[in-house]
Amino acid sequence: MRFHIETYGCQMNVADSELITTILLRAGFEPAKSLDEADVIMFNTCSVRAHAEERVLGRVSNELSRKRNKPELKVGLVGCMAQRMGKSLLDRGIDFVVGVDQYQILPDVIMGRDQIHTEFDQTQLYPGLIPTHHSKTCAYITIMRGCNNFCSYCIVPFVRGRERSRPWQEIFNETREAGSTGLKEITLLGQNVNSYHDGIIDFAGLLRKLNSIESIERIRFVTSHPKDLSDDLIESMSGCEKVCEHIHLPMQSGSSRILQVMNRGYSSEHYYSLITKLRKSIPNIAITTDIIAGFPSETEAEFNDTLAVMRDVEFDYAFCFKFSPREGTAAAGFDNQIQEEVRLERLQKMIELQRQITLSRFQAKIGKNVEVYIEDVSRKNRSQVSGKTRDFKIAVLSGTESEIGTLKQAKVKDATAGTLICE
Ligand code: 5AD
Ligand code: SF4
Repeated sequence: MRFHIETYGCQMNVADSELITTILLRAGFEPAKSLDEADVIMFNTCSVRAHAEERVLGRVSNELSRKRNKPELKVGLVGCMAQRMGKSLLDRGIDFVVGVDQYQILPDVIMGRDQIHTEFDQTQLYPGLIPTHHSKTCAYITIMRGCNNFCSYCIVPFVRGRERSRPWQEIFNETREAGSTGLKEITLLGQNVNSYHDGIIDFAGLLRKLNSIESIERIRFVTSHPKDLSDDLIESMSGCEKVCEHIHLPMQSGSSRILQVMNRGYSSEHYYSLITKLRKSIPNIAITTDIIAGFPSETEAEFNDTLAVMRDVEFDYAFCFKFSPREGTAAAGFDNQIQEEVRLERLQKMIELQRQITLSRFQAKIGKNVEVYIEDVSRKNRSQVSGKTRDFKIAVLSGTESEIGTLKQAKVKDATAGTLICE
């Protein structure tokens, strides 16, 4: 049987799709070269915002219509939406639904065993499974699963269960294996990597271990949590030469009162002090963030506080979202929900402000020397290649396909609010 997986959402889902691929390959399934060729189509899904779920349901109903001409085709849903919506998905004509802790059972489910498997397994870490990494340049390596933080807006703890960390030796072996296949970069994944602890070492210790693997040149990680970013971790980041000068540190709001209602566990002042420490210890570190507009009860003044912090910090990039009430989370039940128009208006103001800041952060790179890890040939111009700088900026320069996977020294000639044009 030939399978196709379509992946939505975060990098964790990308890594889970690689895990699923490995499980299916071991069971004798083959990857389909196209959707037309597939005997089974799976959607690996995201529940973080309503919009993400609506998009997937649209795509699923399109693919289900293929069954008119190909009745033996199976269409399944896996991942966070499978976990959240469970049985109700079967009523839409979907053949099987498998949640985040049950992927090892997929071969049996596809072959016709029970259609639904969404039981939580709070210890599930898929031991002994080293996934085949699909990227030609970077291995996305899961170091922990689940989340214990229960930020009041977030569905993740409900769909991914409690936090647990993979043993460091497994991560070490997976990294070494990725390096031996020619990948020079790894990205460590977890909902809150800063709270990694496998009973032996913490995240700072893990970075130090991985930094010693010779074949690896760059180490990245997502996502960090401001409440768990310790001084020792900052020291480890600055001391490990392979750890790139970039941190994704979601701020969510610039108002301490809103942060408290979000149950984030830090104040705006604390967040600001972390930025100061990071910039002092790691000169030229790029800082990116996530921010939510229109959280319940957010006043105009509190929203303006967020804009003020954005101006002050000057993030290299900010992923801005409008609050989306998720059923079952605390915030969905809060009084004082903000009207949709106001949420949208605040979101647009935030995006516009950040666009200007991003442009100026990128332009500040003009004239600087950067190291670019070549990832792809440019789609617009085949004599150009694209890649990333250590500080996570997309860079383009002239080159050919054979340079994919190599590190190039370059000089920044020009910049847009998203790309460095290099020579
Ligand atoms: N509404 C809007 N944004 C959300 N995020 C998570 N849950 C919600 C929600 N209910 C955002 C947060 C998080 C990012 C991955 O998605 O900013 O950091
Ligand atoms: Fe959601 Fe907060 Fe956990 Fe991130 S840390 S996944 S925002 S609950």
